[in-house]
Amino acid sequence: SDLDLKSILDFTVALAYDAGKLIIEGSEAIQQPASVVDIKKNAVDLVTEYDVRVEELVKERLGEKYPSFQFIGEESYAAGARPEWTDEPTWCVDPIDGTTNFVHGFPMVALSIALLVKRRSVLGVIYNPFLETLYTGIKDGGSYVTRGGPEGVRRKLPFANPPQPFPSLSKAQLAVEWGFDRRIPPLAARAESFHRLVSDAANGIHKARMAHSLRSLGTSAMNFVYVAQGAFDMYWEIGPWPWDVAAGVIIAQEAGGLVTGSHEVFDASKDTITFGEVGEEILTSRKYLVIRPIGDTENET
Ligand code: IPD
Repeated sequence: SDLDLKSILDFTVALAYDAGKLIIEGSEAIQQPASVVDIKKNAVDLVTEYDVRVEELVKERLGEKYPSFQFIGEESYAAGARPEWTDEPTWCVDPIDGTTNFVHGFPMVALSIALLVKRRSVLGVIYNPFLETLYTGIKDGGSYVTRGGPEGVRRKLPFANPPQPFPSLSKAQLAVEWGFDRRIPPLAARAESFHRLVSDAANGIHKARMAHSLRSLGTSAMNFVYVAQGAFDMYWEIGPWPWDVAAGVIIAQEAGGLVTGSHEVFDASKDTITFGEVGEEILTSRKYLVIRPIGDTENET
C-alpha cells in the first residue's frame, strides 16, 4: 500500500501518550466509591466510563487526521457500531485492554491501537501508561519498546540478539488466560489444559511437559508484547476479540514471532503444535497462539 506508515506511527504514538494521561486520571477516579462500573455480558466482564472516554478521544483524533479510514473499537462495537470489515485502512482499537486490572488497580493495562490494511495488521501501538512503556511495530519496519515517555530510551525487539529459538515447553514460560466464559465445560477444558502444561506426571499419551510457569496478566495486548520482547515464550488463548490482538500481532510478527489464528494450533491434549501464518482470520478467529522466534518450530513438543 502507499500509506506512509512511519508518519502514521508518529501521529499514533503521540496520541497514545495523550490517551495514557486520561487512563491514569481514570485510574485515580475509579478508585473512588462513587465510580461507575458496568457489566457487559456477565458479572466478570467489566467496562468503565473511562473505556468509553478513552475510545472517544482516540476515535475523534484519528478521525480528524485520517477521515477516510474506517474505525472499529471495543466500546463502539459494544454500543452497536458494527461496520463491515473491508480491505480499506481500518483502525482497530481497544481503549483499555485489561479493564479488570484497571478496576482493581493492577497496573497491567494497555491502550491498543492497530491499523489494518486488507484485513491484516500493518501498524501497532500498545501503551501501558502505568509502566510508561510503549511498544510499536510497523510492517517491514521492526518492533520497538520505549520506556520513560516520549523522550525515553528506545530498544529494538526482541531483546535477545540473535533471537533465541523457542525452547522446549519444559523450559518455557507461557502466558495463558482464564477469560470471561465461566460456564463449567469451557472452564474445565482450560483448567485441564493448564494442568497438563505444568504437571510433572506423564499422563497416558501425554508426555510430561512441566513448563517453567504459566502466567495470566489479564491483558492480551501485554501478553503479545512480552512474547515479542522474549519475556514469554508463548501466549495461547481462545476468546480474544480483534481489538485485543490486532496491534499485538504486528508487534510480535515484526519481532520475529509467529502468530497463528487458525486451529489445529496448540492443543495441550496433542503432542504437536502446528503453525500457520495469521491471515484474514485474525479478524474473527478468537483463537490465538503467538510464539517467540524462530527456527524450526514444526512439531515442537
Ligand atoms: C480482555 C483481556 C484479557 C483476555 C480477554 C480480553 P479487555 O480484554 O485482554 O486478558 O483474556 O480475552 O477480552 O476486556 O480487558 O479489553
